[in-house]
Amino acid sequence: MAHITKATSIRDWFDQRIAVTKLWNILAAQYWIPKNINFLWAMGVVLTVLFTLLFISGLLLLMYYKPDANLAFDSVNYTIMKEVEYGWLWRHIHAVAASVIFLIIYIHAFVGIYYGSYKKGREIIWISGMLLFLIFSAEAFSGYMLPWGQMSYWAAQVITQLFGGIPFIGDALVEWIRGDYAVSDPTLTRFFMLHVCLLPIVIIMVIGVHFYTLRIPHVNNLEGEEIDFELEAEKYLKGDTVNSKVIPFWPGFLSKDFFYVSLFMIFFFYLVSFHFNFAMDPINFDPANAAKTPTHIYPEWYFLWQYEILRGFFFDIGPLKAADIGALAMAFAGISLFFMPLYDRSDVVAPAHKRKGFFIWFWLLIIDLIILTVYGKLPPTGFNAWIGFFSSVGFLVLLLVVLPIITIKERKANK
Ligand code: HEM
Repeated sequence: MAHITKATSIRDWFDQRIAVTKLWNILAAQYWIPKNINFLWAMGVVLTVLFTLLFISGLLLLMYYKPDANLAFDSVNYTIMKEVEYGWLWRHIHAVAASVIFLIIYIHAFVGIYYGSYKKGREIIWISGMLLFLIFSAEAFSGYMLPWGQMSYWAAQVITQLFGGIPFIGDALVEWIRGDYAVSDPTLTRFFMLHVCLLPIVIIMVIGVHFYTLRIPHVNNLEGEEIDFELEAEKYLKGDTVNSKVIPFWPGFLSKDFFYVSLFMIFFFYLVSFHFNFAMDPINFDPANAAKTPTHIYPEWYFLWQYEILRGFFFDIGPLKAADIGALAMAFAGISLFFMPLYDRSDVVAPAHKRKGFFIWFWLLIIDLIILTVYGKLPPTGFNAWIGFFSSVGFLVLLLVVLPIITIKERKANK
């Protein structure tokens, strides 16, 4: 039993029992961040704030939403949008945050690629981040189904059908996921469970893991400089805050982040107030109808690049059907991003503009992703289909072939 004495303050009372000061020091006041970073390093905190907003707005929507194929559409489009006071505002906040969180995730991930923050001890930060991306994708997809509009229904039809391509168990798996032969009420209720319960719990746990993986390697900096954090922290604690290369997470880093978060919130609420429509597909304002296929089915903007890779291989090759090749290519694209730290064979940690070959590679990858995104929204016919094919192949080649080649060259040149 710990030795408890008469407390001199409320803080001391808690310290003696649950060591709050020690915990605060470990988590914030003596958790060290490099000084040499800029606003791009605020994206992680912006993401945390956006997730919190999604969580709170989701809880409020949940009070009126009905997970039933006969009631879901009206509960969203009539009860929440028209009857509940400020229901429309919470729905807009939820929909806009769901869309914008992907924009920030992409910026955050590509900042990591640009500055090489995924290698030399930071591999697990990257992999836990990719895991978050994957789970967020499942969260967005399951949420998209809930209003039970035409796009919800048909997107669910297309995506669940993808599992049918898995040899031997495909058809049984599709039926198991849907809970029925076709997408219907049981599909809606199980995706509802995933969206409001299982996936948020997993997301919160993985965010915890992502933060933990930053503890030992610490965050990278603008120059990729290897900082001796213990030495620099000692300097800071001795009062030499000017020459120390680090600042504490709290108050230094987080107060600056609050400033960036505030600027971001102005932009966010501008979108919520005046441009919320971009986050809601007009076709989804028609109730789900199993007998009427929309002329053109496409996902939200943030999935378009993957969707285009899925459609990119539009011809059969020998015994392999086009749809199966597309599904394989899409899975490969995801896996190759996941394990990027393994293909980057150079241990140079520096911004891309100081690594010639890598810089060109980086911008080619971004251009390819933009082409995939733009063409993912267009009908896949004629010329469009070929652009889709070449940019899909381009994406895989850039990651799996070009990246290892240029980084092996870089490693050899640095020997
Ligand atoms: C909602 C999801 C996410 C949250 C809340 C989150 C949060 C954070 C935070 C707070 C940081 C430290 C500060 C910063 O660099 O911004 C960070 C760093 C990092 N995150 Fe994430 N992140 C998320 C998703 C991702 C994704 C999808 C990736 C990419 C696969 C990723 C990769 C990284 C990397 C590589 C770092 C280290 C940056 C550096 O060392 O400079 N994160 N994340």
